[in-house]
Amino acid sequence: MIIKNNNSKFITLEGIDGAGKSTHLNWLSDHLRRQGKNVLVTREPGGTPLGEALREILLHQAMHLETEALLMFAARREHLDKVIVPALQEGTWVISDRFTDASFAYQGGGRGLNETKLETLEVWVQQDLQPDLTLLFDVPTEVSQQRLSKNTSLDRFEQEKQDFFQRVRDAYLKRAAQFPERIRVIDSGRTLAEIQTDLEHVFSSL
Ligand code: TMP
Repeated sequence: MIIKNNNSKFITLEGIDGAGKSTHLNWLSDHLRRQGKNVLVTREPGGTPLGEALREILLHQAMHLETEALLMFAARREHLDKVIVPALQEGTWVISDRFTDASFAYQGGGRGLNETKLETLEVWVQQDLQPDLTLLFDVPTEVSQQRLSKNTSLDRFEQEKQDFFQRVRDAYLKRAAQFPERIRVIDSGRTLAEIQTDLEHVFSSL
């Protein structure tokens, strides 16, 4: 069992590529710091030197879908051990740009990997640790594809077709329906101001 400090919270941000999650990440960390919280921002795949090396491979090299899932969880194991758990134990709030829901959405929904295998890896790697709150930034795939089309260098995931992202989005929404206490769906098609008001509200009740 992973014991955390009562003052800390583990928050994860999720969404399909092009859902605008990175824009909100900066605002959110500033918002929490203004409230006096100690905040650590990190990301997956990545967050440690080994995790960042795995990220390079994962984002640019073709591989079997199970290899992809195993490497995502290998990077996560390292991330939990070196960064996430120590920070949570010392009372720091951790905001991770993606975590295990992304594996269920991308490797499960997008690539079609069996959910039972993902559940086995989830329990193996993170035991009983789950985020306190997950913000799922949701947009229709037509909108995200249009945002991505403005980007000139797309990685292996971003180059996927719209039907792949539709499956990823559906899998995310299925997770949100499965874990309504933990996952908040944020309509990311609205203006920044509207989304920030929504986020302020979510955090005032956390
Ligand atoms: P990012 O572009 O949001 O930094 O994420 C990198 C890519 O990695 C993104 O396209 C989603 C993908 N990904 C997975 O497929 N599975 C995972 O478990 C994680 C954490 C990310």
